[in-house]
Amino acid sequence: MRALISLARPTEHHLDFIFSASRIADISSNTYLPRFTDRAEATHWISVVPHGYVIELPDGPVGFVSVHDEVDLGGAELPLPPGAKEIELWLIPEARGKGFSTEAHERLLETSARDTPLVAIVWENNEDSIRLFHKLGYSTVGHIYWSGPDGEGPCWVGLLSDIQASVSTQK
Ligand SMILES: CC(C)(COP(=O)(O)OP(=O)(O)OC[C@H]1O[C@@H](n2cnc3c(N)ncnc32)[C@H](O)[C@@H]1OP(=O)(O)O)[C@@H](O)C(=O)NCCC(=O)NCCS
Repeated sequence: MRALISLARPTEHHLDFIFSASRIADISSNTYLPRFTDRAEATHWISVVPHGYVIELPDGPVGFVSVHDEVDLGGAELPLPPGAKEIELWLIPEARGKGFSTEAHERLLETSARDTPLVAIVWENNEDSIRLFHKLGYSTVGHIYWSGPDGEGPCWVGLLSDIQASVSTQK
């Protein structure tokens, strides 16, 4: 049975939630959400973040899902289909293991990302997340060494697409 997940654009109403989530180690280290040092930073982030939705249950927010316009492979090259976009997804620990991210992902596909090839880039040691993306239908495109301002290390890259990744390499 569906758990009434809804997706909402972040507003100041989500400030406390976003600020506390940014202090959770495996969220700030595995996603693009910065570790905010104070609420003003979080307020600013909410006002400028161009993509993404807060994952909400009837009794409050539990996570965030976002689709970025670009896929940041940290300088590495992999064959991706045209128009591919990068997904990120996180839940607060209390909301994990209940199928909410699976449901939020379905909701995302129903609404804003219906025909978009989605790419997930996950640290190799984040095995739970790689397993989740496989369950969601992503197949392995390759492995890269990602390097950027927020860290570096080996990453798994997965793709959810009707279009085969090899299409982009065909002449
Ligand atoms: C990635 C992340 C969102 C996954 O959360 P999750 O709770 O494992 O994912 P789901 O909400 O889909 O739950 C799946 C689990 O719930 C269980 N579950 C319980 N009820 C369920 C239901 N009705 N439907 C589906 N799954 C259900 C599943 O069996 C599964 O457990 P399993 O992994 O032991 O097989 C979470 O681990 C996280 O926020 N990590 C930190 C951020 C991160 O690393 N993000 C990824 C990089 S972008």
